[in-house]
Amino acid sequence: MRKLIVACVVIAGGWLAVNIATSAEDEKPSIKAVMKTSMKGGLCKKVASGEATAEEKEKLVAQFTALAEAKPPKGEADSWKAKTAALLEAAKECAEGKEGAGEKLGKAANCMACHSAHKGK
Ligand code: HEC
Repeated sequence: MRKLIVACVVIAGGWLAVNIATSAEDEKPSIKAVMKTSMKGGLCKKVASGEATAEEKEKLVAQFTALAEAKPPKGEADSWKAKTAALLEAAKECAEGKEGAGEKLGKAANCMACHSAHKGK
């Protein structure tokens, strides 16, 4: 009986993890939504400063994952890839608690550099 309960818990846990992963997949925010929440909204800054919770860090990683997959209204695809990959990598390192990651994220989040290359009118 006890084994059965343990098995149930393990299965339920696995199902939950899959569910969370897919729900994060489902709601892919647009570039504008990412800008609102993470950039203008200050989530990125909070993570870079080291004051964010683990949940907020995870959210930023999800946001930047969507950003990297999105297509910007302007500019070269390679340049977009490089900029968004740098953001995503830095956000992931922040989530892992890697040293110097906040600084790296702050540098990658260069509003003007990216807007002049990729933001339409
Ligand atoms: C990796 C590139 C990139 C970086 C870095 C970036 N942005 Fe953006 N941002 C964009 C693009 C692309 C758009 C245009 C989106 C569109 O028109 O669909 C945009 C649009 C915006 C908008 C307008 C959103 C709207 O609803 O029209 C705001 C506000 C904004 N960014 C704020 C910021 C701030 C503040 C920072 C720095 C902390 C920042 N962004 C950094 C790429 C970037």
